[in-house]
Amino acid sequence: MILLANSEAWPGISESADLLKSRSAGLDAILAGIAHVERETKVRSVGYGGWPNMLGRMEFDAGVMDGATRGVGSVGAVPETVPVAALARAVMERLPHVTLTGEGARRFADEIGLPREEALLEDSRRVWRERLEKELSREELAAFPDIPLAPLSRTITDPERVRDTTVFLCRDAKDQMAAATSTSGWAWKYPGRLGDSPIAGAGFYADSRYGAAACTHTGEMTIRCATSRTVVLAIKLGFTLVDAVDLAVEELAELDTGFLGPVVIHAIDAGGNHEVTSFRCQDAITYWLWKEGMAEPELRTARPAHTQREN
Ligand code: GLY
Repeated sequence: MILLANSEAWPGISESADLLKSRSAGLDAILAGIAHVERETKVRSVGYGGWPNMLGRMEFDAGVMDGATRGVGSVGAVPETVPVAALARAVMERLPHVTLTGEGARRFADEIGLPREEALLEDSRRVWRERLEKELSREELAAFPDIPLAPLSRTITDPERVRDTTVFLCRDAKDQMAAATSTSGWAWKYPGRLGDSPIAGAGFYADSRYGAAACTHTGEMTIRCATSRTVVLAIKLGFTLVDAVDLAVEELAELDTGFLGPVVIHAIDAGGNHEVTSFRCQDAITYWLWKEGMAEPELRTARPAHTQREN
């Protein structure tokens, strides 16, 4: 058994580990943990603690994947919903579809009994409003939001504030793997923007036969490179886990147009190995690991990637 999650997972990692220890199914274990992260207002990238879009509204992204079946469920840009990873799981289990977005996702949440939540914290609203007041002219503020928003995506949108999400990967007592993600996405993002967290193959992927991977930070890059799928496919093709992650990093490093930023790849394989590699991150990146035999989850430090393009 193994459980791997990014540093934001601290409110839920112990519960996920305890559930795995008691032989719960992997998806149950990581969904229980991620729900704690979504409810914790101190985690400023997920659920109640996240930041709103350019219009000051919360829009959440989440995804789950069952490595036993390669079943996927995800939701993107869904308003007023916490816990949103649970909604993604319901898409996988109750619908013939894989992904729902926006109002359709919220309608489905109503149908399965998830209450509407005003998830925008007063502190988040204040910081968003101050940002608008700093960047917009008096005329633009008076007309807001009936002004073109696209130019603001260069000045207001703040990937520095939140490049993060929460990701959980596990292999359970029956050797089945699962992945789950949840985020509010970039602060002040263009309304309707999807990151990689609801995009299977980009922000997450799991195939119990080979491995599972999930990414944090710049979703615009991992969508372009299908990073999580690249890692798992490379393992299938015979790469070691470290070489599979290095291949995915090389592909990210080859991008030289569009928005370029940091990415962190989290991955496990069917041999019980784990790897967390940070690419273009200025600060040290930490992550949570629990494996069979460990009393508690431990906070570890990721390996910084060294690519020719970075050197
Ligand atoms: N990786 C999270 C996002 O891009 O929204």
